[in-house]
Amino acid sequence: MFSRICNPSNVRLATVGLCRNFSTTQRVDSKVAVLGASGGIGQPLSLLLKNHQPLITHLALYDIAHTPGVAKDLSHIESPGEVTGHLGPESLEECLTGCDVVVLPAGVPRKPGMSRDDLFDTNASIVRDLCDAAARYCPKALLAIIANPVNSTVPIASEVYKKHGVYDQNRIFGVTTLDIVRANRFVAEVKGLDASKVNVPVIGGHAGATIIPLLSQATPPVSFPPEEREKLIVRIQNAGTEVVEAKDGAGSATLSMAYAAARFTNSLLEALSGKSDVVECAFVRSEITEAKYFSTPLVLGRNGVEKNLGIGKILKYEVDLVDAAMPELKKSIEKGEAFAAKTL
Ligand SMILES: NC(=O)c1ccc[n+]([C@@H]2O[C@H](COP(=O)([O-])OP(=O)(O)OC[C@H]3O[C@@H](n4cnc5c(N)ncnc54)[C@H](O)[C@@H]3O)[C@@H](O)[C@H]2O)c1
Repeated sequence: MFSRICNPSNVRLATVGLCRNFSTTQRVDSKVAVLGASGGIGQPLSLLLKNHQPLITHLALYDIAHTPGVAKDLSHIESPGEVTGHLGPESLEECLTGCDVVVLPAGVPRKPGMSRDDLFDTNASIVRDLCDAAARYCPKALLAIIANPVNSTVPIASEVYKKHGVYDQNRIFGVTTLDIVRANRFVAEVKGLDASKVNVPVIGGHAGATIIPLLSQATPPVSFPPEEREKLIVRIQNAGTEVVEAKDGAGSATLSMAYAAARFTNSLLEALSGKSDVVECAFVRSEITEAKYFSTPLVLGRNGVEKNLGIGKILKYEVDLVDAAMPELKKSIEKGEAFAAKTL
């Protein structure tokens, strides 16, 4: 199921996650909250976390609708770990207190013709208010933000934590894992490879031209004629829109996003439990480029980002992609910061 979890280098979770033998892994008590748990992403994500996640002892599901039912439903699954449902803002304290990881998919998704930035007006305040609660009730938890536009919602979250005096840039992540998952899949399709064994770092941000797959750093190494390479890059950058159009008004990626978020959450939990070689790309506060936030491969540890691995060696056309992404990326970051400055 989870390609990265089930590959031979990571057998521990493969054994426990899929074979009902949940007791063979090292157990670390951890509480994970999903904020927006009743939604298109929230429900399958919660299912994946409940069913294949031996590192979670308490899954706390929060939404403004339907969480009692979703939590009751999931609580009947025969895997270990408690599930609780929390409905409405007055239940946020109970949901968040003691959390180690908070995953935030709350917010409206795109409809055909919309950009991620078109979601800003609705989602900015949802993210602000939920981060305000997380900063109050579990300031040390690792925060994984899925709600779009990620290029703006991560800066908003950071400003909220700063306001509370609890900001730690190593603990706040914009989840870009779906871009990596898609790049792996699409490269594997073109090259006839096993997608679960392909790894394409994707850097930059999480919207259109700010999504920068580093095909030159793919493992196993792959090469393409320039025209095919260009097509592949554009497909990876527009893959979210591909889903939005196919769903024809019924939302954006939910199932693949739930998979990607479960993979990222699992990596955070593995890092928290002391595993030493956990690397994921994510959109974080960064000194790697002139953009204040930028996604690059990160070594994860007990305190979040342990080391930023940076961009590494890239080819001229990839340098051009980074340069081309900068204006939009900086504008989205500034938009998030301006919203926070105005409304906090
Ligand atoms: N980062 C990524 O790669 C990525 C990929 C796909 C979608 N997304 C984004 O994820 C978000 C959620 O998408 P979805 O398809 O699950 O949408 P959805 O509409 O199906 O679900 C959103 C959920 O959020 C809840 N919600 C709304 N306001 C809330 C609040 N104030 N507090 C708590 N919960 C609240 C809703 O009740 C709903 O259950 C969207 O912003 C979408 O753009 C991100």
